[in-house]
Amino acid sequence: MSINSTFPSYKSEGWDKLSDSTLLKPGGVTEPFSIDALHLTIPKEKVNEKIRILDIAAGVGNLSIPASIEFPNSEIVATDYSKGMVDSLKIILEYNKIKNVSTQVVDGQNMVDIESESFDYCFSMFGLIYFPDRLAGMKEMYRVLKSNNSSCTSIGSWQPNAFLPLLLEKSYEQFNGGKKLQSKQPALSLDDKHLFKSELEQAGFKNVVIHSVKHLIKFNDLNPFLSPKNPIVDDFFKLIGDENIDRFKETFITIANSLYPKDENGYFTTEWNCFIGIGEK
Ligand SMILES: C[S@@+](CC[C@H](N)C(=O)[O-])C[C@H]1O[C@@H](n2cnc3c(N)ncnc32)[C@H](O)[C@@H]1O
Repeated sequence: MSINSTFPSYKSEGWDKLSDSTLLKPGGVTEPFSIDALHLTIPKEKVNEKIRILDIAAGVGNLSIPASIEFPNSEIVATDYSKGMVDSLKIILEYNKIKNVSTQVVDGQNMVDIESESFDYCFSMFGLIYFPDRLAGMKEMYRVLKSNNSSCTSIGSWQPNAFLPLLLEKSYEQFNGGKKLQSKQPALSLDDKHLFKSELEQAGFKNVVIHSVKHLIKFNDLNPFLSPKNPIVDDFFKLIGDENIDRFKETFITIANSLYPKDENGYFTTEWNCFIGIGEK
């Protein structure tokens, strides 16, 4: 399936809109997966070492912030191509007096200001999946890692049954009389384990392992998931057109209610599934 690079989630302006909202916040949906990625990628014995970590497409720091706490002597560089995201992250770092994370506005597909062979670990949690040229991003990760036989890259991608991408796709299909999406939604661009592994290998990584991780997320209101400020959602709103957004939202809510029954306290419990792909340089 081809990519449609006009999707809002392929553009930095799309993510700027999300940066000042509460939808992507420290401690949000992506944080538990980032903590898993840290544990799967960095050996425990490195906990007090002075390692250098690069967080690519860092958003508001759901990997960088836990990393700064778990690896207090590390030096973390959090990058994102959305200036809005980087500005929000700077405020969070200052407010929480986090000293070992610095920030930079960088496009992960072409990290001109990041020196080659300068990091021990490189992460991109649910960020590289939105690069129109993922392979360029992976090759950049390879370039900036040290050649020391222990450096690794670690990438998070959603699986096809992750709650929000799954519901958006199902709603689109139902809305469109059963017709499937013509191009892959960016949020699911790396939802195939074999493709994921082969792209990491093409970028030069060895001993690639794709882990499967899931977390249960509880919430009682579906509306925040349907905000056009979220470019993942806006991808679909642009496809169906403004005049159909209300009807699309109704379809989404009906499907959610049928797939995820609420508990006695009115909470949905949903499963979010992700792959964490790790490769050694
Ligand atoms: C879903 S958010 C994930 C943020 C964070 N990694 C997390 O897990 O919470 C996706 C992020 O990828 C960033 N992004 C997308 N394409 C990018 C690119 N080409 N270069 C750098 N950042 C990019 C967006 O600006 C956004 O902050």
